This record gives sequence, structure tokens and C-alpha cells, in this order.
Amino acid sequence: MTGKLIPYGRHFIDDSDISSVDEVLRSDWLTTGDKVDEFETAVANYVGASHAVAVSSGTAALHCAFVAAGIGVDDEVIMPTLTFVADASMVAFLGGRPILVDVRRDDLLIDVDAIEDMITPRTKAILVVDYAGQPCDYASIRQLSDRYGLCLIADACHSLGASYGGAPVGSLADLTIFSFHPVKHITTGEGGMVVTDKIEFAEKIRKFRNHGITVDHQLRAQTATWTYDVEEFGCNYRITDFQCALGISQFAKLPSWLLRRREIAHRYDLAFKESPYISSLFVNNQLKHAYHLYVVRLNLDDLQIDKAEIFKKLRNAGIGVNVHYKPLNLMTAMQRKYAYMSGDFPVAEKAYDEILSLPIYPAMRDSDVQKVIDTCLHILSSVN
Ligand SMILES: Cc1ncc(COP(=O)(O)O)c(C=O)c1O
Repeated sequence: MTGKLIPYGRHFIDDSDISSVDEVLRSDWLTTGDKVDEFETAVANYVGASHAVAVSSGTAALHCAFVAAGIGVDDEVIMPTLTFVADASMVAFLGGRPILVDVRRDDLLIDVDAIEDMITPRTKAILVVDYAGQPCDYASIRQLSDRYGLCLIADACHSLGASYGGAPVGSLADLTIFSFHPVKHITTGEGGMVVTDKIEFAEKIRKFRNHGITVDHQLRAQTATWTYDVEEFGCNYRITDFQCALGISQFAKLPSWLLRRREIAHRYDLAFKESPYISSLFVNNQLKHAYHLYVVRLNLDDLQIDKAEIFKKLRNAGIGVNVHYKPLNLMTAMQRKYAYMSGDFPVAEKAYDEILSLPIYPAMRDSDVQKVIDTCLHILSSVN
């Protein structure tokens, strides 16, 4: 490989981020302090939700959301097969059953028409995923969830800063979760958040993140008591104050970073528009995409080699392409535990053969974007 790999995603940390963390590290309060509240309030205000609870990862946020929604043994949660494994594993850990549905071919978002047939008396929730950063069809899914009395949960790990019908992602579902892993829009190193308008959900999650303890240490200090109870067991999913200080500092840059992501996506759109070998996913221009990922589809009918070879050639040329995701029904754990099989979801499985995620991140230079475009077009035209 020549030169440094251009990764598919990357965090950006500047001096202001470092000094915010440094300040907290020198303070008396490393965890469960004011920075956690401040970060939660900033995100809740931005996404138009009444409550936000910060936790130690996006996966922890999913676990908390499923607990809040009351998912238990044999409860079913409908979700797209083309998503990250944590969506299914957190349901499985609660004894529930992830019920997979296929995605739409043009934008790889959950196929709304496939949801209704999968609703049974055991269905408790619908989990949607704003794949790549594009909000799914919330209006239709909300209608369905309301009609059947189901909890609507949004995995918005890709879509912080996106909006649908003018409403920000975070205000569109009963519970919405975010991840602050370094490849996401903003980072806390590891971290996540659940946002909701329902106080009962927020209170349940606050307890669950802290072992189920009914009175947190700040309240105990205020009331000068040591006593507390645990009515339902929880986990330690707390996030530290220095992580939240980083989150607050990063969050201030989110609007400009979203603009940069959209700018890069626009350049890719234009560059690949006329190519017979590569096409971009469909984007609904009525909504605001957050472009966590820029996913392209290879036209394999007109190419002489398969995706694995193209992937290798791009990696060797310094382009850090990736693939999101292997459909869940192809995972051994899902096949063993729930009898899913290869062939169950033809649209997602075909997409899996064809898709690549190209590099996109706010600090990506124009010259890197151009290098990705030129390298893709050159490799694809040389193998047809
Ligand atoms: C769609 C989706 N859901 C859940 C997660 C889990 O987030 P985390 O890595 O912060 O646990 C991720 C992160 O990769 C994700 O992309």
C-alpha cells in the first residue's frame, strides 16, 4: 500500500477538547457529576427530547431502552436484518426474540410494508435504524406502532443531527439511542445516550444505569442519609465526567461537522452519478441526512471481479473502505438461537454482496475525497 490509509471514519480532537477533559481530570468529580447533566441537557435540547440519560456505550443505551420498554422473556422486537449486531444481542440478553425484516432496495432502510405481517401478540416494540444517517419512514412506522400499541425505539447511532419532516431525530420515537464511539458524529471515547419524552422511561433508565439503586449519591448527600434500596437489578452503565466534558466540547462542533459530511457526500454523489459501475444509495431530499456513512453499491453485473477483490484493491490503494453490515440472519448466533437462515432476506443479502462504505468524516481533506473518487473510478473501470 502506498501512503497512509484514508479510514472510513475518524474522530477529530482539538486543543479545546483536550483542555475540557484536562479540567475535569484535575477536579474533585470524575463521575456522576455536573458534566454528565450538562451533556445530557445539551443533547436533549438539540434533539427536542424532554429527557436524556448518558451511558457508557451505544450498546448500553440499547440495553437501557429495551429495559425501559419492558422487553422480557419471549417478547418480540421487530428490527431490520441489515444493522449492527447489538440491536439483536441486547434483546437476546433480556430473553426476548429479535424478529428480523428485510430492507428496501433503494435506501436500505427497514421495509415498512414487511413489518405488519410480523406483528404477533408477543410483539412489544419496533426498533428502527436510520441506516447510514438517513431517517427511516417515521410517519408510516409511527402509525403502525400506534395502531398496535407498540413501543417505537430508534437506533439513531448513525443519525445524530438528521431530521425528518422538520423534526430532529431524537424527537420521533418513544426512545432514541445514540453512540459516541470515535467513528460517530461526536465522540466521548466510548459512550451513548437514550433520549425520550417519557419521564417514566427516563427514571427507569437512570436507575438501571446505576445498579438499580433508587436514590443516587447526590440525593443521598442532599438529604444526609446513607440508605438506599434496589427494587430491580441494574448494571453499571455510568459514563464519566471527563468523557462528558469531551462530549460537550465535541457537541459544539456538530453543526459544522454535519455541513462538512453533507459537502463530502455531495461530491461523491456528483462523481458517481454517471458511472456505470457504482451508484449511491437513494436519498429522500425531503429530509436531512446526517451521513455517518457514505454507502455505494457496486454494479457487479458489469464488473469482472467480485466485491472482495474490489475491496482488497481499494484497501491496497490506501482507501479504507468498510462494509455495513453483514445481515443479522447470516450471523451464526442468530441462526443457532433463532433458526434464521441464509436466503431469508433477499434484498439485504444482495445488498451485502454489493455495498461498500467509503471514507467520510469531518476532518477529511478535499484532496482525500478526490483520491477516493479517482481511485474508485480508476479501479472499477480497469476491471470491467
Ligand atoms: C447502528 C448501531 N447500533 C448500535 C451501535 C453500538 O454502539 P456502541 O459501539 O457505542 O456500543 C453501533 C455502533 O457501532 C451502531 O452503528
